[in-house]
Amino acid sequence: MPDMTRAEGRDEFRQARSFGAAADAYERGRPSYPPEAVAWLVPQDARTVVDVGAGTGKLTRALRAPGREVVAVEPSIGMREQFSHVLPDMRVLDGTGESIPLPDASVDVLVCAQAWHWVNPDRAVPEAARVLRPGGRLGLVWNFRDVSVPWVAELDRILRDCAAAPTNARQVEHVGAPFGPVERQDFRWSHPVSAGEVVDMVASRSYVITLEPAAREELLSRVRTLLDAERPAEMPYVTECHRAELAAR
Ligand SMILES: C[S@@+](CC[C@H](N)C(=O)[O-])C[C@H]1O[C@@H](n2cnc3c(N)ncnc32)[C@H](O)[C@@H]1O
Repeated sequence: MPDMTRAEGRDEFRQARSFGAAADAYERGRPSYPPEAVAWLVPQDARTVVDVGAGTGKLTRALRAPGREVVAVEPSIGMREQFSHVLPDMRVLDGTGESIPLPDASVDVLVCAQAWHWVNPDRAVPEAARVLRPGGRLGLVWNFRDVSVPWVAELDRILRDCAAAPTNARQVEHVGAPFGPVERQDFRWSHPVSAGEVVDMVASRSYVITLEPAAREELLSRVRTLLDAERPAEMPYVTECHRAELAAR
């Protein structure tokens, strides 16, 4: 069992470790990240990049660049298996944000996509500072569904009715010394989707995976009814990015 995380309450810990059970739905239903966001987070000349909480590698695959080494770190065996199935040529290691299996000062950029809310920042911030080279960069990113679009707001209402979503506080404010100030930038974009992919996106949420089967089926059936009525072709997202530089020693 990897190190405990912020999610030390039983339900949250169960949710943090639940993703592997729906790794295939995760891979089918979750979006990638827009190239402008990746470029804002990772300088073009970064030679070594680690993606912590990499899941099935949604961000990892977008980090590839000529002459760059990209390593993924992921605690869930189910997610690591799916990662290796989809990205057989990329390295994925067993680890967490609190315990990264890489040497000191070995990485130019550490990114964490849709996962920093699961870590214990009291341990993950010093651990990021340990593996980064002086002057290296920490990048945190989340995709949020754009609820200013009416059918997306309705989808969110259905999710809130049926399942207790975790608060997912971003914990960005916990990134302090030895990192410098945290900068933020948002990117608005849309991801083409089929109805089946929206259902997979819902089914791969930790708080849906851990529902009782009947409650889960009821939720998915309400989502299907909404999709039958709306027939969306795209899911609109706002990608929220944060970056901070490690002080040069
Ligand atoms: C919502 S998924 C994000 C996956 C991927 N980064 C993406 O953008 O699609 C959250 C991931 O964080 C992982 N996770 C949970 N607790 C973690 C921890 N303490 N440190 C690192 N990753 C963790 C989960 O196993 C899961 O794969």
